[in-house]
Amino acid sequence: MRWNESFSVGVAEIDEQHKRLVEMLGNLLEEMKRGRGKDVMANTINDMFNYAKMHFATEEKYMALYKYPESALHRREHEKFVETAKSFYEGYMNGSLSAIDLMNFLKNWLVEHILGSDKKLGKFVSGASLCKR
Ligand SMILES: [Fe+2]
Ligand SMILES: [Fe+2]
Repeated sequence: MRWNESFSVGVAEIDEQHKRLVEMLGNLLEEMKRGRGKDVMANTINDMFNYAKMHFATEEKYMALYKYPESALHRREHEKFVETAKSFYEGYMNGSLSAIDLMNFLKNWLVEHILGSDKKLGKFVSGASLCKR
């Protein structure tokens, strides 16, 4: 999976972080294809989760700054992701889920969330910052 312009939400800081997330997901996929052990995969996954949390905080900063009307809903999506990702991760570690299951969840969530909720937020923020100029 590669980042391309269709993922752009129109806010540079958010786009940069999405690029990094997509890149991390690509690294994870590479490790999976090469049959890396769970310990290697676990490190990459942990890095990605930590980065995702930092990224959510960035988006939430914009929501507060511009008084985004859909911030409660968007925040809940972030919270739900952290919870679900944790249980997928545990499932992967205890062997009840395959690496592919975990990858598919991460990839689908990221793509759907960026194209849906994050684009909506990006549009609002870029519109609002134009008005402030
Ligand atoms: Fe988001
Ligand atoms: Fe995002």
